[in-house]
Amino acid sequence: MSAPAPFKVLPVEHKTDGIFEELKEVQRKFEYLPAEELKRIAVSRGLALRDVHAIASYYPHFYLQRPARVTVKICDDMSCHLRGAPALQRKLEQRFQGMSEDDLTIRNVSCVGRCDHAPSFVINDRYYDGFSPDEAVSAVVQTIGGVPPRGSIYRLHEMPLATDPCGGEKPYSALKEFVRSRDWPGLLAKIKTAGLRGMGGAGYPTNQKWESVRNSTSPEKYIICNADESEPGTIKDRFILTQLPHLVIEGMALAGLYTGAKRGYFYIRHEYQEQEDIIRGELSRACQNGFLGKNILGTDLSFEITLFVSPGGYICGEETALLEAIEGKRAEPRNKPPFMAAAGLWGKPTVINNVETLAFAAAIAAKGADWFNSHGANGFTGLKFAGVSGDVEKPGIYEVPMGTKYSDFIDQYGGGVSSGRKLLAFAPSGPSSGYLPASMADLPMDWQTMNKAGSMVGSSAIVVCAEGRCMLDMALNAVRFYRNESCGKCVPCRLGSQKMVEILEGWTRGNSGPSDIPLVEELSHALRQGSICGLGQFLPAPIQSVLKHFRAEVEEHLTNRRCPAGVCFKGGRA
Ligand SMILES: Cc1cc2nc3c(=O)[nH]c(=O)nc-3n(C[C@H](O)[C@H](O)[C@H](O)COP(=O)(O)O)c2cc1C
Ligand code: SF4
Ligand code: FES
Repeated sequence: MSAPAPFKVLPVEHKTDGIFEELKEVQRKFEYLPAEELKRIAVSRGLALRDVHAIASYYPHFYLQRPARVTVKICDDMSCHLRGAPALQRKLEQRFQGMSEDDLTIRNVSCVGRCDHAPSFVINDRYYDGFSPDEAVSAVVQTIGGVPPRGSIYRLHEMPLATDPCGGEKPYSALKEFVRSRDWPGLLAKIKTAGLRGMGGAGYPTNQKWESVRNSTSPEKYIICNADESEPGTIKDRFILTQLPHLVIEGMALAGLYTGAKRGYFYIRHEYQEQEDIIRGELSRACQNGFLGKNILGTDLSFEITLFVSPGGYICGEETALLEAIEGKRAEPRNKPPFMAAAGLWGKPTVINNVETLAFAAAIAAKGADWFNSHGANGFTGLKFAGVSGDVEKPGIYEVPMGTKYSDFIDQYGGGVSSGRKLLAFAPSGPSSGYLPASMADLPMDWQTMNKAGSMVGSSAIVVCAEGRCMLDMALNAVRFYRNESCGKCVPCRLGSQKMVEILEGWTRGNSGPSDIPLVEELSHALRQGSICGLGQFLPAPIQSVLKHFRAEVEEHLTNRRCPAGVCFKGGRA
């Protein structure tokens, strides 16, 4: 009997390489992922069907059953909630009531990154923003009729930026200089003296991340740019990718050359199609000009970047979940330790930095730490990109001196609270930061000050709430976002997020009383202590901040079944 034909076995960790592209291709062809196709993919990759199913079913972007002919997905997260999403959704649900589910479905989607043009919604993968309820109805009618209106183009207010070392005219000057001088300690010294911190939210010193990976003796290392930007109100990275793509790529290349990594991944959320195109163009220009690839600028140095489009979900932005996604798996956060610097992508030392961090790193490399620290306000130094949305006249993204007071930011950059109303509260950084009352708006945008205030600079996603808003409703909105985006890997977050939503819904509907407050405290404690990742740990922040700063209003709901703002107790979804 002849020996069996050798069976080609791929290394275990690489069997899922590129699987999302394959799944997307199938979905483009069939509009969903038929079971037969999942089987085919499983066989061709030497995987069990359950493994492919586990991956496909994890990401909301993939459909396992044929979707309706028209699917409408409405964002009702913080900024959209404040700018008319509930009314828009009610209008669409009333207008299309009774239509067959094969023809039309209407549901919610988490923040799609258009918070500055809220409210946003999606019809069959086309993005629309800033529509009135009537305009939204008309867009749906046109789509049903087979002639969908053009999607909204992403609009930004272009402005000269201090961060751009050369007005975009002589890009990659720092890279040229460091490739020539190879003064790697000098590069790190600049980043360290500038005090550059991670702008993805945690504010971890960038020099320490880079140094740990450089010190590793592993021959294989990676640099990743995190452009997943999916937290409600967070819109700054999209702006940077649009206006300063060359700086972000240069920052990645400098990180690669400094640490000795030969390969980088640019991880971008799938909703950012325009920015994906911009980065694709920038990568190819940089390769053509010798700034990226093998033998950079004719030397023995090399660094290549692969563009990776996220299969979707807020959790993918968490750094270890993001690694799992690049590895083609379910984007579930890993237990830590081991930490990224020791065992990151494919178990190798890895630096993950946010878009803004990398852009600043390149600017500091070009212009120096003194330049970075020459900016600042109220005794603090540095620059920051911040987005402002919600109840402001001019939602948008602005480059500001670090230390700018939130009140100045809202009034000067954001054009003031909308319709001349008074400021009630603001979230300095989306749901993670919780809400602060107007009396704290004179705090400066500074890491330590905000930590002391029980909040954070975070990803500077400033969401403004005008007088007349119900802060309990806003806390519920933020907690719902987390519940919807929980990956379900750990029990405290999987069950606790749902329980928290149920309790707060009860509070806004008159179904429970003050005896629930200790339960919320206990649940918050369990979430903070027992959750694997930041999503579960930050989940209590919105309600905890509202209990701290707006206690009387909450108690009015619980004791007298009355919403001082007149928002809750309407029978439906608040
Ligand atoms: C649930 C969750 C989502 C996150 N999403 C992002 C994101 O979209 N972009 C980002 O840069 N960091 C995000 N982070 C933070 C990253 O885990 C990581 O700290 C960051 O990318 C590191 O870059 P930095 O040091 O330059 O800030 C997220 C964290 C959590 C817990
Ligand atoms: S805390 Fe939540 S999102 Fe994070 S790993 Fe646990 S279940 Fe997943
Ligand atoms: S697009 Fe709706 S909150 Fe961001």
